[in-house]
Amino acid sequence: MRKIQIATPAMVYNDISELSSEDSMLMNRAVEARKKAYAPYSKFYVGAALLLENNEIVTGNNQENAAYPSGMCAERVAIWKAGSEYPNVKILQLAISASSSIHTVDKPVGPCGACRQSLSEYEIKQKQHFSVLFMGEVGEIIKTASLDSLLPFSFDSSYL
Ligand code: THU
Repeated sequence: MRKIQIATPAMVYNDISELSSEDSMLMNRAVEARKKAYAPYSKFYVGAALLLENNEIVTGNNQENAAYPSGMCAERVAIWKAGSEYPNVKILQLAISASSSIHTVDKPVGPCGACRQSLSEYEIKQKQHFSVLFMGEVGEIIKTASLDSLLPFSFDSSYL
């Protein structure tokens, strides 16, 4: 028997003003995308922005549905948009922002488990990590270097 320890290194920024200009520009695109989310049921609005190697920025936001499970998270809307429009262009970075019309979201909101799995597929596909920045509406921002660090022991095609 042996014990292993998986660490998730992350940078924590106090607010958006501490980010580099590139990072804050991408986060602002996530915020803009968040404002166009369709979330009449949860009233929880999420925006995601992906920076691609060709300098394109692909955004997405959550799209809800009266049949609740038929809705989709912002991160998967964005990653599938990028995967379908730019299948051979690498993703360099993802920024996520979340807000609510019920309360102030002042903690960083990381991608849900299903989104981590979907995002991880593209990191593996492109054989290159991409960093993930996430925040609420205000307050701290967390930055991790890869999807891999957000989803240790992930399921991948090697098991199939
Ligand atoms: N949501 C996202 O868009 N991304 C996540 O990672 C977590 C949750 C959305 C789904 C739903 O529309 C709303 O937030 C509340 O769960």
